[in-house]
Amino acid sequence: MSPLTVLGVFCGLFLLLFLSEYDTHNCVPRKSVPYQGNMKRFRAEGIWNYSTMLVQEDLGLLLLGAREVVYALDISDISVTKAEVYWGVTDEKQKDCQYKGKHAEIECRNYIRTLHKVDNSRMYVCGTNAFSPTCGYMTYSEGNLTLEKTLEEGKGKCPFDPFQRYSSVMVGNYLYSATSFNFLGSEPIVQRSSTSSLRTEFKSSWLNEPTFVYMDFVPESRNNPEGDDDKIYLFFSENAVEYDFYNKLVVSRVARVCKEDMGGQRTLQKKWTSFLKARLDCSLPEPSLPSVVQDVFLLRDADWRRSVFYAVFTPQSCTSDVSTVCAYNVSAIGRLFDTGKFKTPVTVATSHVKWVMYSGEVPTTRPGACINNAARSQGIMSSLDLPDKTLQFIRDRPLMDEAVAPLTGHPLLVKKGAKFTRLVVDNVLALDGERYAVLFIGTEDGYVQKAVNYAGEMFIIEEIQLYQNPDAIKTMRLSISTGQLYAGSDYGAVQMPLSDCGRYDLCLDCVLARDPYCGWDLSAGLCSAVANSTYASGTPSYFSRKMIQSLKDGDVSKCPESETVKPENYTLFPGNNIKLSCTPDSNLAEVHWLFSGQPLFSDTKYYIYDEGLLIHNASAEDAGRYTCESAERVNGRTLTRTMAIYQLQTHPEGSEMTTELPYGHSTQGPEEPHTMDPPEPRRDDLRLVGLQVAVAILSLMLVGLVAWNLCKGQFKKSPSATGQLKDQSGNYMHIQNSDSEIKQLKPTPVHNANNNHGAVITFNGNREHNFSPGGNLLTVDGLGYINDESEI
Ligand SMILES: *[C@@H]1O[C@H](CO)[C@@H](O)[C@H](O)[C@H]1NC(C)=O
Ligand SMILES: *[C@@H]1O[C@H](CO)[C@@H](O)[C@H](O)[C@H]1NC(C)=O
Ligand SMILES: *[C@@H]1O[C@H](CO)[C@@H](O)[C@H](O)[C@H]1NC(C)=O
Ligand SMILES: *[C@@H]1O[C@H](CO)[C@@H](O)[C@H](O)[C@H]1NC(C)=O
Ligand SMILES: *[C@@H]1O[C@H](CO)[C@@H](O)[C@H](O)[C@H]1NC(C)=O
Ligand SMILES: *[C@@H]1O[C@H](CO)[C@@H](O)[C@H](O)[C@H]1NC(C)=O
Repeated sequence: MSPLTVLGVFCGLFLLLFLSEYDTHNCVPRKSVPYQGNMKRFRAEGIWNYSTMLVQEDLGLLLLGAREVVYALDISDISVTKAEVYWGVTDEKQKDCQYKGKHAEIECRNYIRTLHKVDNSRMYVCGTNAFSPTCGYMTYSEGNLTLEKTLEEGKGKCPFDPFQRYSSVMVGNYLYSATSFNFLGSEPIVQRSSTSSLRTEFKSSWLNEPTFVYMDFVPESRNNPEGDDDKIYLFFSENAVEYDFYNKLVVSRVARVCKEDMGGQRTLQKKWTSFLKARLDCSLPEPSLPSVVQDVFLLRDADWRRSVFYAVFTPQSCTSDVSTVCAYNVSAIGRLFDTGKFKTPVTVATSHVKWVMYSGEVPTTRPGACINNAARSQGIMSSLDLPDKTLQFIRDRPLMDEAVAPLTGHPLLVKKGAKFTRLVVDNVLALDGERYAVLFIGTEDGYVQKAVNYAGEMFIIEEIQLYQNPDAIKTMRLSISTGQLYAGSDYGAVQMPLSDCGRYDLCLDCVLARDPYCGWDLSAGLCSAVANSTYASGTPSYFSRKMIQSLKDGDVSKCPESETVKPENYTLFPGNNIKLSCTPDSNLAEVHWLFSGQPLFSDTKYYIYDEGLLIHNASAEDAGRYTCESAERVNGRTLTRTMAIYQLQTHPEGSEMTTELPYGHSTQGPEEPHTMDPPEPRRDDLRLVGLQVAVAILSLMLVGLVAWNLCKGQFKKSPSATGQLKDQSGNYMHIQNSDSEIKQLKPTPVHNANNNHGAVITFNGNREHNFSPGGNLLTVDGLGYINDESEI
């Protein structure tokens, strides 16, 4: 046993290190809201790939593009279809596409990829149309959606390949798009479709196997003393040219062009003269490969200088599962392009090219700059007047030397687990008069993470499961006027309110939720939406409504006293197993049990688990007061509160009852038949506890050690890692799994023990697990008793 003990100690140390590492950069959602069947949903029989959305608030519509159909749905209830238009491929097109080697039923269909508003009721729509992209106009009038007869070539506006990512934005009547220009998808292009069309140079220094993610327009000419032009920003990832790496290394980029760019006269004819790009930085504190941008949202401000881009990133190395969110100041990006240094290629040794900072002379007419007052004063009225020297410079050096740093210097949010796919951001006016950016982040497994960053503290208010199956969220849109969020996946679209304050039925829970949308209304005794106050319209009646909200501190001291828990009386029958329920409101809370004021710990007698406390083979001495307390971490402090109190009293007739009555207690529900265990095996089980626990701990430690070695600090909860844990100590994992699940199911404290019919051990392999070594390990054996315990 002694060598085993030594090994155990070592493994334990490793395991602890490994677990603390696991927790360092992991933001855990305070609440987990499971799938709710009553959310408004849309899906049509036989239709897939609901991946394009356009919110038309003025028409009261959500336009939803799927495979071969566009739907006009009611913006406030997307299960209501107002109109639809079918846009399939012709047999001829499909045959042609199939002949070129594509799959007839999968690739040779028309995937709607573009929906832009043109004017009031007119929209621009593009589809892949069996690898022959096509665009057209669509109108919505008097309840009818119609696709206009004349269609146009969509090459360069929409990808050929439905699986390829791309982006576009409509500014005025011009479409700016970033996609691939050819059938093979090998010729990337950023273009403006207009009478004077412009495009990128086909050079790897401009675009090097890019994945386009997002494009948007910033009206920088507005209130601009320099007379600068409006800009179009593009976010993408591509193979890096600037790093020496043994393998292809992907980096994230932001690029921009000027709206009024006309191309050059001789050099860069019909090409952008203002295409500049820079690396986007969103690095973790620990060293890791650059992360890859997946989606961006522009949070606009009336003053464009204060607008902010929010971006989600996922790791490029398969050993990591840390997603991040970073924010970038539009002005800061502009400053980098306007004044930063360039990179330049230099040939080293034979034919090897290295990109280094350019320290030579930069032409006086700044390469890549838009035409502004200073240029005009030199007689340069459009990009056609730019000197050749400037154009040649920018043609060969579109990359900036410096990277764009995130607004706060580091990520706003870091989370392990299912990868982030999309995000939208709302700017919420809270009771303190400040505005907070609330991030809604879609994940690969169909959840939305609702998160805020309070002065550097990452906080996930809640995670909401949108789909029953773990389908990736492919598109997300906001409608501020209706307060709704729309998400689309391959299998359907779903609508979710931006807040559901009614979820919190106690003041403590409402305030600790730290949701800028919600506050505790003292007069109504409800957690209700702050926006419902008249604050927005400026009348002071809002103040008389007396709402409590404490976003940065989570200060609950103003909550009414009346929420104290009343003790519940129950009768104790010696010889039974007793279950006392207590589920914390929050995933951030830890539960402690007290018996007559003394703390209880899991051991052979007591079993503390996520739904409550189990007392094995209760005896008369176990009568007394049991208190369940939850300790929640709030902004670095720990807030302890009582969740439930149980007063157990021995039954006057004592143990006779248990032997004579199989359903041996007074409050037992009739639907819950109780079977007494034969005493002998149970005693054996109890004796086995110590040994089994030791084995479970050791196997876990070994797994931990292996994982630690494999991942070297970047623990990935890969399917195989989970599998190993399950194989070697399945029970442990199951208990941990049930942890998140049970919390999800019971957001409010359960005061009545009878509500809990047995301990439901459900598990959901897709959630992540918060390991809490220590007491819980002892629960390995306790599981055996759950099914045959008697309930109070
Ligand atoms: C809408 O379209 C249907 C069928 O094409 C037509 O019968 C109806 O008159 C149209 N409604 C309006 C208001 O144009
Ligand atoms: C369309 O949806 C199907 C699922 O029905 C999925 O297998 C396929 O990958 C999706 N296609 C695209 C282009 O996303
Ligand atoms: C972005 O930078 C500009 C100029 O420095 C500044 O005025 C603005 O407040 C910044 N925006 C944010 C959100 O910090
Ligand atoms: C907000 O007010 C409207 C009407 O004034 C009411 O219908 C709605 O239920 C309120 N919402 C909340 C969350 O209190
Ligand atoms: C529980 O029992 C105590 C006495 O032990 C009594 O004072 C109290 O009122 C009882 N509570 C309830 C809810 O019956
Ligand atoms: C329960 O406890 C009593 C004494 O308190 C003991 O005699 C009995 O054997 C125990 N039963 C089991 C199954 O451990």
